[in-house]
Amino acid sequence: MDRFVFPRWVNKLVLILPILAILGGIYVVVLVVYAAVPSTTDVGYQPRQPVPYSHALHAGKLGIDCRYCHSTVEYAAQAAIPPTQTCMNCHKSVRSESPKLLPVRESYATGKPVEWVRVHDLPGFLYFNHSAHVRRGVGCVSCHGRIDRMEVVYQAKTLSMGWCLDCHRNPEASLRPQDKITSMDWTPPEDPVAFGKRIRAQEGLNPSTDCWTCHR
Ligand code: HEC
Ligand code: HEC
Ligand code: HEC
Ligand code: HEC
Ligand code: HEC
Repeated sequence: MDRFVFPRWVNKLVLILPILAILGGIYVVVLVVYAAVPSTTDVGYQPRQPVPYSHALHAGKLGIDCRYCHSTVEYAAQAAIPPTQTCMNCHKSVRSESPKLLPVRESYATGKPVEWVRVHDLPGFLYFNHSAHVRRGVGCVSCHGRIDRMEVVYQAKTLSMGWCLDCHRNPEASLRPQDKITSMDWTPPEDPVAFGKRIRAQEGLNPSTDCWTCHR
């Protein structure tokens, strides 16, 4: 008489099943935690950076224009993070011994970029374009807040679909003259909506709310 009703490998499977169940449990927990991490949902996400670089000092106090460092922002989808060379233009001579700048000097010597941590990060299925906004009169401050007051950059707006659509439906209050695009404290000389309406008419702006505009 055959005692083995099931083939032998089933015994092994019975041993493995609880392990699989535990791994499955861990997977679910990781997913839930990941979904709650600020980088994917929250305003205020402020990762630690490898160098204590301050926008409040450089863009605020020293008044360096955003485009000196984020040089592609008017022409490309992405607003490039500056290469080490840009920092060294000044820091070869300014504070050239500062311990705070050690990673920058190391990067300059080795040619390996500084590993800045991303702050704003839309999900991969989205299309966003800086030049399409910056060249149509939407200033940095509308989407990034008062960067010139931030010691360490944080996410100021939700970057949710509702947030994008609110402005695409009613962009007037967020429009400004082209030469004020990087100004952080510019205010319109009259009622912002009336002012924006004129810019909108002049430039023939019509932000799209079609799904494929952002999902492509
Ligand atoms: C001297 C160079 C320099 C200037 C000037 C500068 N930035 Fe930056 N910016 C950086 C560097 C370096 C980083 C990456 C490190 C960090 O996040 O602080 C950065 C990061 C950022 C980020 C976050 C990027 C991300 O990872 O999501 C934003 C937004 C930003 N800058 C906006 C601005 C605005 C707006 C201005 C002008 C008011 C400006 N910056 C001026 C160098 C500069
Ligand atoms: C246009 C010139 C200029 C550029 C470009 C520049 N900085 Fe600076 N940076 C300064 C000045 C001026 C100071 C203030 C020095 C002082 O306090 O005496 C400073 C201070 C600093 C400090 C503080 C140093 C300390 O010891 O307190 C850090 C860190 C720093 N910069 C990082 C950077 C990084 C990173 C970049 C490139 C993304 C950069 N800087 C680009 C001019 C510049
Ligand atoms: C209409 C809103 C909007 C405006 C205006 C805007 N940004 Fe952004 N910015 C974003 C979004 C959204 C992201 C994240 C993009 C992504 O994840 O692909 C971002 C990302 C960045 C980054 C990180 C690098 C990158 O391109 O992903 C930098 C630096 C930055 N912005 C700087 C600026 C500067 C400087 C200005 C003004 C000259 C500006 N932004 C104007 C919405 C905006
Ligand atoms: C503060 C206002 C504002 C916000 C916020 C905003 N947009 Fe826009 N967007 C505009 C304006 C204005 C235009 C230009 C419309 C035109 O050219 O007629 C535009 C144009 C665009 C375009 C068209 C680019 C092209 O190639 O035609 C895309 C894509 C876009 N926005 C995506 C986004 C996404 C994604 C977000 C959110 C992450 C966003 N926008 C948030 C105002 C805004
Ligand atoms: C102006 C830009 C814009 C337009 C237009 C737009 N979306 Fe989105 N959509 C976004 C952004 C930004 C997100 C990501 C939000 C986030 O990160 O949670 C998103 C997320 C989504 C998601 C995923 C939700 C999630 O969190 O998983 C779906 C589904 C979606 N959009 C459907 C649509 C449909 C359908 C339309 C047309 C009726 C549309 N979108 C038009 C910007 C846009």
